[in-house]
Amino acid sequence: MINNLLSNDLVAFLYLISGVFFILGIRGLSSPETARAGNYLSMSGMALAFIVTIFSLSDPSILNLILILAGISIGGLIGTILSKRVAMTDMPQMVAALNSMGGLSAVLVAWAAFLSPIAFELVSTDGSIKTLSKIEMILGILVGAITFSGSVVAFLKLQGLMKSAPIILPFRHILSIVIISLIVSCSYLIISGTESSQLLFLAISLLSLLLGLLLIIPIGGADMPVVIAVLNSYSGFAAAIIGFTLSNLALVITGALVGSSGAILSYIMCVAMNRSFFSVIMGGFGDEVGGGAQVKETRPVKIGSADDAAFILKNASSVIIVPGYGMAVARAQNSLKEMVDKLKEMGIKVTYAIHPVAGRMPGHMNVLLAEADVPYDDIYELSEINSDFAQADVAFVIGANDVTNPAAKSDPQSPIFGMPILEVENAKTVLFVKRSLGIGYAGIDNDLFYRENTMMLLDDAKKMSEDISASI
Ligand code: TAP
Repeated sequence: MINNLLSNDLVAFLYLISGVFFILGIRGLSSPETARAGNYLSMSGMALAFIVTIFSLSDPSILNLILILAGISIGGLIGTILSKRVAMTDMPQMVAALNSMGGLSAVLVAWAAFLSPIAFELVSTDGSIKTLSKIEMILGILVGAITFSGSVVAFLKLQGLMKSAPIILPFRHILSIVIISLIVSCSYLIISGTESSQLLFLAISLLSLLLGLLLIIPIGGADMPVVIAVLNSYSGFAAAIIGFTLSNLALVITGALVGSSGAILSYIMCVAMNRSFFSVIMGGFGDEVGGGAQVKETRPVKIGSADDAAFILKNASSVIIVPGYGMAVARAQNSLKEMVDKLKEMGIKVTYAIHPVAGRMPGHMNVLLAEADVPYDDIYELSEINSDFAQADVAFVIGANDVTNPAAKSDPQSPIFGMPILEVENAKTVLFVKRSLGIGYAGIDNDLFYRENTMMLLDDAKKMSEDISASI
């Protein structure tokens, strides 16, 4: 039987080492070149934290190695199968599902600690649960349950199992205030110890679940990327709070890292989409805008062939490629790279412009381009390249739509109004590769399709880039 084989100081030191592994791991994720190494470092940190936790348990009666190994094997197997099977385009749903698990774990651990405080060493000398522990458990339940129900709604919206348009309930702000007041009252009664607390604890759990629902259902699909990052951050903070309850330094460190890095990512995405960070973390942002004008389109459109596109590209001296979600769906990155290589051989300058929310997850386009061995030096962020479109001969937009839509600048009623866009319309010619004149994720028409300097190349992105390559 394993029984507290490590001293407290050694445990704290080893947890600190695992924290350093996590930080280096996150650092590694900042570039596609080092991302794989970053993942390995984080996995090593987690393995170390896990082993230290097992060998430092003071109460052997709660340690059941068979149960722990069974949990790891089943969870590990499900995780491996899911991550091997999930399509890159479905990654946001996967992240939402994983966030919900993080939130649920926090709720379950808080309940376990509440029901057997002695096993968790949370009892004061008079036999009652310590006040600080009660506060930690309540916070763990609150943040964990909001993360869980909010992530489930985000998953359903992203998976298309629920309408992705904002669902605005009447009096929802008043309802939220009532729920928060009830949670505060129940918490007060539990902390002051005046009431038998199991029912109150249950009430806090259910009210927090409801609050999570209310926070996320009013948010429209186009704002979902930020929501996922915010929920990711919440799940980290829920883990950190539970780390205090369990007196587990590793959980506090990892939770704080996930929470703060998620918050930083949310902030960066808010800036990228021109949303207010405060309204995002308070939930229900993006509900003031309407659905955008949906008038039946009758304007003429210039439709070209692969040969037309090859001719225009060969005669250009600078080309900027703008990839989007459609490139991911078509898995067109390799054939696009072949096409670009041919253009480069002819002395044409070709660069790539990446919008921060192109595709369906942060860094989606960077991952795909890295997969196709596109040199990192050819890839530019929105802020670095936006002014270059005015000097470019061709903007080659492949499977992107919303991230180029000028309605973001000109139509206050549009759901994407205020989001910075890649200003492809400033290039001499805009080539748009997509299968139809259909809408993108935000569900709105794109005026660029009908502009004088635009040529639509209506086909699957992979097929069109192969055909253009052949024609070049
Ligand atoms: P979208 O605006 O969604 O447009 C993608 C376009 O790709 C569609 O209009 C579609 O038109 C085309 N397409 C689909 N399959 C194709 C194929 N096989 N070949 C060629 N084209 C194809 O994409 P975007 O410009 O990348 O913008 C991203 C949007 O997703 C934003 O609204 C963003 O807020 C949202 N979002 C982003 C994230 C993150 S974190 N990146 C997460 C969730 C949501 P056709 O049907 O006509 O082909």
